[in-house]
Amino acid sequence: MNALEIDLNTGYPDVAAMPNSTLAEIAADVITSGRGLQYAGTLDGIRALRTEVARFLNGHLYTGIDPSELMITSGAISAADIVCRALTQPGDVVITEDPTFFYNINVFRMSNVEVVSAPMISEGIDLQAVEALIERYGKRVKMLYTIASFHNPTGINATLENRKRLIQLVQTHDFTIVEDSTYQLLYYDDTPPPPMFKQLTKDDHVVALGSFSKLVAPSLRQGWIWATPPQITRFKQFKSDAATSLLSSEILTDYLKSGMLDLHICDLREFYGARRTSMANALKAHMSDWAEWTNPDGGFFSWITLPKTISASKVREATLAQGVDFMPGFQSFVAKVPDRYIRLCFAMLPEAQLEAGVAVIGACLKEMQP
Ligand SMILES: Cc1ncc(COP(=O)(O)O)c(C=O)c1O
Repeated sequence: MNALEIDLNTGYPDVAAMPNSTLAEIAADVITSGRGLQYAGTLDGIRALRTEVARFLNGHLYTGIDPSELMITSGAISAADIVCRALTQPGDVVITEDPTFFYNINVFRMSNVEVVSAPMISEGIDLQAVEALIERYGKRVKMLYTIASFHNPTGINATLENRKRLIQLVQTHDFTIVEDSTYQLLYYDDTPPPPMFKQLTKDDHVVALGSFSKLVAPSLRQGWIWATPPQITRFKQFKSDAATSLLSSEILTDYLKSGMLDLHICDLREFYGARRTSMANALKAHMSDWAEWTNPDGGFFSWITLPKTISASKVREATLAQGVDFMPGFQSFVAKVPDRYIRLCFAMLPEAQLEAGVAVIGACLKEMQP
């Protein structure tokens, strides 16, 4: 195999899109003043940061979040872990979309719950399949994990109707939607996705979680949970890292306070939006005859469906030999599925590399036609 030259597999943001010099200035002040070096001493996160996150979210979501409804976590993954452990007992059932964010499938399984899934269709999660799962597992169903906006890996946005009907379902059967809003604000065509579940209902059948990994920098490990104050009190009991890093929290607080993220987010939409368009153009140029794909309006991923006769893993063997990697889609599924899906991340690479990578995949597909 050649050295890996083009990585369309890893779903990271691009360091080139991060506010490096601003963060460096803020970090120097936070460290030299000593205010970022202690334990944070609070499980729900420092008050100043919760206030700034509330202001930031209220500014972008037009909703009235109070800092008492927020908990700061060490990233959205840690938020998902805390919420799952708090809402379930071993043996309970967690429903996910299928496919879903691969990492969290394991995070939930670490809570010793049974993870079951309902297919992702073009409107969002398949509600009939969810109803069938409720029928089958009854009271064991305690939570449903969804990435309704710019879904990882398919890029799909659940419709408003789908979201409203899902809320009715969980209210009727009394379990909790856990919505991962990591990509909610990363839309590229002026129109935001439909509102978050948590914007549609304030009741405790919905818990939202989110992240600054894609908006600022993942190494800060700063995420949040948005829930009712009694739920936040319970979630605090499940926080096992003593506290989220004070250093990162102080840096993020000052960055949010400066108002610069409110401007930077427009740059991010332009930066990643251009890459999304480059990916769409490359797919059209090199894959039209061999595959189908989604054209997302936001997020980081394009999702490819191959003809039934072609195995994504076999394609990957061939592309890796030419230094091009992608994620075989089956890794994102809970259920056993045919090996005919591919996830491509367009966030990390400039246009020329996106084009070259997709060209290699397209050429390999062409060779594999029966
Ligand atoms: C849906 C989703 N949730 C969470 C994460 C990770 O978030 P964090 O870095 O805040 O833990 C990712 C990133 O890959 C993601 O795609």
